[in-house]
Amino acid sequence: MFLSVEDERILAGEGGDAARKAMEILAALGDIFGADELIPIRSVQIAGVSYHNLGDAGLEFLAGLARDGRVKVPTFLNPAGMDLENWQALGIPPDFATKQKLVIEAFAKMGIQTTCTCTPYLIGIRPSLGDHVAWAESSAVTFCNSVLGARTNREGGPSALAAALIGKTPNYGLHLDEGRKPTITVKVETPLEALSDFGALGYVIGKKAENQIPLIFGVNNPNEDYLKSFCASVVTYGSKPLFHMVGVTPEADKFKDAAPAETITITESDIKDAYAALEDKVDSIDFVAIGCPHCSIDEIKEVADLLRDNQVAPGVELWICCARPIKVLADELGYSAAIEEAGGKFACDTCMAVAPLKGRFKAVATTSAKGCYYSRGHNSMLTKMGTIKQCIDAAKTGRWN
Ligand code: F3S
Repeated sequence: MFLSVEDERILAGEGGDAARKAMEILAALGDIFGADELIPIRSVQIAGVSYHNLGDAGLEFLAGLARDGRVKVPTFLNPAGMDLENWQALGIPPDFATKQKLVIEAFAKMGIQTTCTCTPYLIGIRPSLGDHVAWAESSAVTFCNSVLGARTNREGGPSALAAALIGKTPNYGLHLDEGRKPTITVKVETPLEALSDFGALGYVIGKKAENQIPLIFGVNNPNEDYLKSFCASVVTYGSKPLFHMVGVTPEADKFKDAAPAETITITESDIKDAYAALEDKVDSIDFVAIGCPHCSIDEIKEVADLLRDNQVAPGVELWICCARPIKVLADELGYSAAIEEAGGKFACDTCMAVAPLKGRFKAVATTSAKGCYYSRGHNSMLTKMGTIKQCIDAAKTGRWN
């Protein structure tokens, strides 16, 4: 990969130790993926924030970079392993909290905004069509590429941080016109009515369109919450972090008259099969998690309306996962009070997948297909997936009907 004179100077250590290490990472990645050069980016989202995933080795790496590393573009974080303010109420062990705070301090020292959300686009961080960015969390990357039409590869923790410290990323993959062309046509021939239906659709397409870019026909007027659920699911279960949806996403029109020949059709029975595959045989629920990806204010309103004058059942823990600014808005609108008076808990800055939950709960009810994947794989929980109403009913009764 071509390096400019300035890039070479940074590689020689003139910009400090952290910048040198960052340039080494970017140069190696550029060579591996055949990038022609480094291109400027407008923002970075860093994943791998939870101490649960980083461990002491990760913390040490970050603390080392924070000695002289400072980010060059607006940079923000994916969820951490705990609510940074309310961790005790969520049962997070104090030792874990101490380490997680050190992780956050290292990021903050580098000039990174400690937003800790996978839905930055819900709190005003919305790149424009054609912007180049370097984002890392898979659902956010998919939303950014597909729904917003900005351009990013799915960065790993180190490559996103390196991009932030340099303000550039290697120009390959989804940054290029060629890399954004659809490779498979998907015809959806079934109505989709609930948030979880879009998770199920993502599951089916992800499985069938493995590592391809789908051009999707037949999804009418989905709202943004449905799209965020779909983004999380389709990439978790297999496709690339980009899809084009005709009539919905901004680049789809370019491709709709020359759709790829390879075609798959999604029917009602595919969606039913997806629910069956995502659920376990379990009746009792002891954990309910809403907000994967992190909740919008509309989702929180729905939860509040369902919980008003009701109570979460004894022995059940209900988490509403969201970005902190969304919680502040929910406070102002009275939604938080309705949820908390019913015994529900907000889990800002964190989520059901990155918090240290293994061994705490047996069975989770969630709206999220991605949430099912991580609850099973990371936390050994049994899973049920359904609408927000079904999940809140489970929170009120401790049962899945
Ligand atoms: Fe976000 Fe955590 Fe789900 S990062 S997409 S809430 S697994």
